[in-house]
Amino acid sequence: MLHINPDKTLSHIAPEIYGQFSEHLGRCIYDGIYVGEDSDIPNVKGMRKDVVEALRALHLPVLRWPGGCFADEYHWRDGIGPKENRRRMVNTNWGGIVEDNRFGTHEFLELCDQLDCEPYIAVNLGSGTVQEAAEWIEYMTADGDSTITNLRKENGRTKPWHLKYVGIGNENWGCGGSMSPDFYANEYKRYQCFCKNYGNNKLYKVACGPSGEDYNWTKELMSRIDHEHANGISLHYYTVPGDWEHKGSATDFSDEEYYITISKALHIEDIIEKHLAIMDEYDPNHDIDLLVDEWGTWYDVEPGTNPGFLYQQNTMRDAIVTAASLNIFNKHSDRIAMANIAQVVNVLQAMILTEDTKILKTPTYDVFQMYKEHQDATLVESYAADAANRINEPVISYNDISIPALSESVSVTEQNGQKLLTITLSNTSLTDSLSVELELPIKYSFCGKASVAMLHAEARAYNTFDDPDRVRAFETEEDWNGNLQVVSLPACSVCRICCYVS
Ligand code: AHR
Repeated sequence: MLHINPDKTLSHIAPEIYGQFSEHLGRCIYDGIYVGEDSDIPNVKGMRKDVVEALRALHLPVLRWPGGCFADEYHWRDGIGPKENRRRMVNTNWGGIVEDNRFGTHEFLELCDQLDCEPYIAVNLGSGTVQEAAEWIEYMTADGDSTITNLRKENGRTKPWHLKYVGIGNENWGCGGSMSPDFYANEYKRYQCFCKNYGNNKLYKVACGPSGEDYNWTKELMSRIDHEHANGISLHYYTVPGDWEHKGSATDFSDEEYYITISKALHIEDIIEKHLAIMDEYDPNHDIDLLVDEWGTWYDVEPGTNPGFLYQQNTMRDAIVTAASLNIFNKHSDRIAMANIAQVVNVLQAMILTEDTKILKTPTYDVFQMYKEHQDATLVESYAADAANRINEPVISYNDISIPALSESVSVTEQNGQKLLTITLSNTSLTDSLSVELELPIKYSFCGKASVAMLHAEARAYNTFDDPDRVRAFETEEDWNGNLQVVSLPACSVCRICCYVS
């Protein structure tokens, strides 16, 4: 039984929880997004039309760029001005290929315009300078007659852009400079001080937070910064079925590896709660948000592809990871202000894979599509319990792994003076279907047509360029009445229901 209480509103679900990440890594930017104006692939100002259209359909709220590890070796001046004059650099983190900087600040902000999303820029703290960071913000957001703003105008952009989200450094405990938390915290404070608000543009500043279970980083950072310095701190957590040497195949995995993957994905909830508890000690008023600005599955690269390009396939297992992760983020939306799955196209747990002129949408894409109604909605109380109100989530046991079979979250929006519920459910079992009774308080009733979207397939099923819709959600309409409704979830499935209640 899943109890849903539309009156018990808990928190606003920031649309940014459904955010994405794009890095100069492998074929994410080049091929995946940017093909250049002279390409045979249909494009607008160099951006692939098919990819932009597919991402717009997700109502993508925010896109993080230029990295990742790349951010701390990126020098923004290399990526402006005539393309033929742009500096060529070695992308030392990702395959050692030459980056010619033909996609830079103007191109990224043009992409965000086409996607109608907020840009989220990561500035270089690791190998850059304070002046460089400060001038990048000025270049993008200041008006008037300064040397920097005039440079922007010479490069074809008269008006400043709107820029809200700025991350200062990336993984500075690792690829961003191997710093200790106290050293980083001091550097962060210095850098953020010179990232100014110009005109009406107000920055939301993000400090580099921990990796996974590094609670010491959070403690040391939070003891040194306050809301005068930072609006949020980041958390990075990847679901790696094996270890970093042998991560496991994206498509060829055993049942045990499946359950290990889901169990590791669910572990993010514990990690989030522990970091939030530490943040509470230093920030009891919750002025500083948590941003999970990199998350998702990370497997061995597809055989025959460049190991530095992190290209992986995406199965129904990834869809289950996505559904469960987004439900967790929704449930913690009182403190989580943003989450960015890594990465948007052709890298790690991507929405879209491309091959020359072809694209395919992955099962992960479908989950983002199904869950988009949660964006900007209000989380309401929902919990699995029996008649005596004891928690009774069915549990799956496999060898020594134990995970809940059901993942869920519920939100409400007011539409036409009525309450519209969005209920997202996932059955993590590989073998057993799950019957879920959805119960509203007695004064409420489901009324009228419910739109039910269902995604289910064998866990190892995936889409290919020859069979791009092998795993695809389908939608039906059902008549729902009364305060109790039963939904049957096939094994390994994700379901989204939108229904008015009164
Ligand atoms: O997303 C790939 C990499 O993972 C990013 O560059 C880095 O921040 C993280 O370690």
